[in-house]
This record gives sequence, C-alpha cells and structure tokens, in this order.
Amino acid sequence: MRIVVLVSGTGSNLQAVIDAVKAGELDVEIAAVGADRPGTYGVERSAEAGLDTFVVNFKDYGDRADWNSALTKAVAGYEPDVVVSSGFMRIVSPEFIDAFDGKYLNTHPALLPAFPGAHGVRDAMAYGVKVTGCTVHWADAGVDTGPIIAQEAVEILPEDTEDTLHERIKVVERRLLVRTLAELAAGKRV
Ligand code: GRF
Repeated sequence: MRIVVLVSGTGSNLQAVIDAVKAGELDVEIAAVGADRPGTYGVERSAEAGLDTFVVNFKDYGDRADWNSALTKAVAGYEPDVVVSSGFMRIVSPEFIDAFDGKYLNTHPALLPAFPGAHGVRDAMAYGVKVTGCTVHWADAGVDTGPIIAQEAVEILPEDTEDTLHERIKVVERRLLVRTLAELAAGKRV
C-alpha cells in the first residue's frame, strides 16, 4: 500500500508512521510527505528519513482553487492508495476529495462528531466534557466529517491544560493511526 502523508506542523503522528515502517511493524510504502507551507518540521524530519517531500505553498497561489488543483496534481503524481492528513490544517476542495475518493484519511484530536475544526482539544475543554479522545476517519469535503474508522477515549484531568491534554491525545492518536494503516494494508478494512 502506497501512502502520501500531508502535514502542516511538527509531524509527530507522521514520525510514528515512519518509525513503525522502519521497525517492520507496518507494511506500507511512504511515497512522499507534502506540506502546505515551507519550513515545517514534518517535512524536515521526512527528508532526514530519506523520504520524498514536496511543498505546495498556499501563499504562492492567487486563490484556494488554484492551490487545491496544484495540491491534487502533486499528490496524484505519487499514485497513492491512501492519502493521510496528519495534522494537515487546510480544508481541501471537492476536486481533491473526488480525486482521492474514499482514500483520504484524517486524524482528529476529539471524538467526532463532537468538536470538529482546528481547536478540537480547546473546544472540548471549554465545553467541560470529562472524556474526549481521537478519531481516525475517511474525510469528505466537510470539516472533519466522513465515515469513522476508529476512535479511542482519553479522560480530561482537572489539572489539564490544552497542551498536556493534546499531548496525551497524540500518544493515543499515533497508535490508532498506525493500527488503522496496518489493518488497511493487510486488507482487513476497506
Ligand atoms: C494532531 O493532534 C492532529 O490530529 C491535529 O494536530 C496534531 C498534529 O500533530 N490536527 P503533529 O503535527 O502530528 O505533531
């Protein structure tokens, strides 16, 4: 199974995938890692790991549609079986979703459909829920919507800050992402 991973930030979820592949625990080929901006640690650490990388810089395009087309072309060039949004903080267009229909996997740091959007951890804390978690799902053209594949709960502790809670969620998120990719690669899921 060939995957392309999209990142906007540090790519610690991506690192878990890289580590699992290196350890022989995950039978996928990381065809490339792409970002929507230059200078991300996610791309830097991928290059260090010897992976192909690319940047389709949002700021280089006059409008979102042009950027989306360029991103779609860049990703399609790698002919991936699955595209993983791993902390990729841009909404993609229906053109992108159509090109990778049923192949675009997203991870989100909350129990969807609760708390979608860029601040899933903060919003869960602000609401006062006692349990949140993470979700791995097939993404459609909405914001953190689409069929759910796997979820795991994480308790919110009274002393939690957004950062401490997000870090605990990310530990679970990494495990869930690697397990989901392994199951997809083994044909245990479609
Ligand atoms: C993850 O929690 C992801 O779900 C969220 O941002 C975080 C990405 O972290 N949208 P990283 O870039 O993998 O370290």
